[in-house]
Amino acid sequence: MDRPRLCCESSHITPSHGFPRALESCYRLPRRLVVTPAAAIHDFPKHGREEARLSQETTFGAAPFRKLLPNARPEAPDNWSLYDRFLDLCEAHRWKMADVRSEIETVDPASLSARDLQVIDCVAEVAVVEGNAPSIVVNQLAIMLYDAEFASWATYQAGEEQKHFHCVRHYCRRVGHPMAAEHGEAKLAERQKGFDPNDFQDEFALVLINILGETLNIHLYQVLAGAADEPVLKGLLQRIARDERRHQQWFVAYFLKRAGQDPAFVPSALASLKRMLRIDSAPDRGAQQHQGTGVENYLQATEKVMRYGYSLQIITRTVDEQWRVLQECFGAALDIDRRQFVVRQMARPDKIAAQISAT
Ligand SMILES: [Fe+2]
Ligand SMILES: [Fe+2]
Repeated sequence: MDRPRLCCESSHITPSHGFPRALESCYRLPRRLVVTPAAAIHDFPKHGREEARLSQETTFGAAPFRKLLPNARPEAPDNWSLYDRFLDLCEAHRWKMADVRSEIETVDPASLSARDLQVIDCVAEVAVVEGNAPSIVVNQLAIMLYDAEFASWATYQAGEEQKHFHCVRHYCRRVGHPMAAEHGEAKLAERQKGFDPNDFQDEFALVLINILGETLNIHLYQVLAGAADEPVLKGLLQRIARDERRHQQWFVAYFLKRAGQDPAFVPSALASLKRMLRIDSAPDRGAQQHQGTGVENYLQATEKVMRYGYSLQIITRTVDEQWRVLQECFGAALDIDRRQFVVRQMARPDKIAAQISAT
């Protein structure tokens, strides 16, 4: 006989399973009173606000959190292979927040150079984008929840992005930067971009946005680390850049794994890439698509790196590597003109200013 499951353990109750419609609103009842058989766990909750969200139209053709994705067979040699490999890699290089906080406590705010202040001004803004990790992961999982390996990785990766926010938060508070006021719990919650199942377009664009976005993150932190004079700040940004490098390597490995499993993956991903870049339209010269797109601070950070003169170095290195990574992923199938890609990845200051004033 099936073990009765608490409603909060299960994913679904519907009238088809013999439950009265009133029980669909089970969240209003004491959870311990609501049971459903194990056979009912394969579908999804449909109550209150969740119902409205789950019925939202999506570009990937299935309701949020319902898309079925391939998982390896238990005996397959690639079962959890990327997760195992990258978790080992990330843990081997994992650094401790306690160490970072101890280092930050040694910083004398009076020792900061003019360049340090500019770098901090940029990373303080970027930190708020990193702090959107909860929204970013929920929007990714709206598509990828049932790809077990991807979902496991996404929770780990987003945890590291959140850690990046917290490091910079501690640093800004130590040196008395005004952006510290934006790093409190209430402000961060207010700045969450929130649940949007269309945020990552589809399962292919989602991987590509992560590949391209992590590449930008690497060079952003590397260039800012190179510009910083204060050694704790420099070391902190170098650590974060190395995390971003491992994140990028995961998404590339994931792309190649999926491409190796399914001959339709590369053509589908190429169509999504063209759609994402709006390759059939004139370039609009706005900020490039990124995990942080939609967060106001992403535009503010872009404006600041332009204003302080870091953007040319960041974007030149980024776009160069992004193109090389796309070539690695797509091989001969990549039929996009490199110049068309480059022009779409390089924002113009006047466009960013217009986007900021429109928000
Ligand atoms: Fe990050
Ligand atoms: Fe990252």
